[in-house]
Amino acid sequence: MVNPLNVEGANPFEIAQEAAKQITNISGIPSHDIALTLGSGWAKAADLIGETVSEIPGSEIIGFSKSAVIGHVGTIRSIRLPNGKHALVIGARTHFYENHGVRSVVHSVRTAAATGAKTMILTNGAGGIKPQWAGGAAVLISDHINLTSSSPLEGATFIDLTDLYSKRLRDLARTVDASLDEGVYVQFRGPHYETPAEVQMAKIMGGHIVGMSTALEAIAAREAGMEILGMSLITNLAAGIQTTPLSHAEVLEAGRNAEARIGKLLAEIVTKL
Ligand code: HPA
Repeated sequence: MVNPLNVEGANPFEIAQEAAKQITNISGIPSHDIALTLGSGWAKAADLIGETVSEIPGSEIIGFSKSAVIGHVGTIRSIRLPNGKHALVIGARTHFYENHGVRSVVHSVRTAAATGAKTMILTNGAGGIKPQWAGGAAVLISDHINLTSSSPLEGATFIDLTDLYSKRLRDLARTVDASLDEGVYVQFRGPHYETPAEVQMAKIMGGHIVGMSTALEAIAAREAGMEILGMSLITNLAAGIQTTPLSHAEVLEAGRNAEARIGKLLAEIVTKL
């Protein structure tokens, strides 16, 4: 199937507008207030934050592709929150390592913005550099280091990334759980996990969390003028910090073990927005 985002001359913002129109037509919800991208371990939050009005397979919306990763849910849900606001929950994340191009990676964020969302919650499963995060800690992202050598911004689009991961929203999250720690997220391209030497490099550079998503999406969300909350579930300690080999099965299992707890946490944070 041709990816419309990569067709020469395509305008990714127009395609996001088109995708948002399709979501509006199918869900019957004219606009959304907040959007959430749920990564490994976070899917349960969708069941807890409110009443699902509509669940749409990503493949029915222009520009979205079926999730290539087992364990990543490929649907888009429109949810009515108890306070009457509407949330768009994106389970159909496209990763940079899938090689569909950076426009595809950020299409969900641009679509969320086009549905009216002013707040973007980006979640992921990631490796932890701080040993005290072993055992499935949920942590706030305070900043990022983008090691993908890419950007969703095209041309001379100069966007300020100071306070990219909103201090206001991190403080608000801590009113739900005062013990939430925070750290700098380092996005690697993947899909291989990092070498222990790369993890040490990330640490020396000021990183605390290693993963394969989120940073590019956050940049696009900021370009769209959204306020961003980023959260990682530490599914494993990063390579070399933990001495046993990493595996996707381990990541999924950690996600399953944590999902009820972190789903509830995220649902409580969402009600405060
Ligand atoms: N590194 C990168 N991505 C990840 C990891 C990791 O250790 N764990 C889960 N996603």
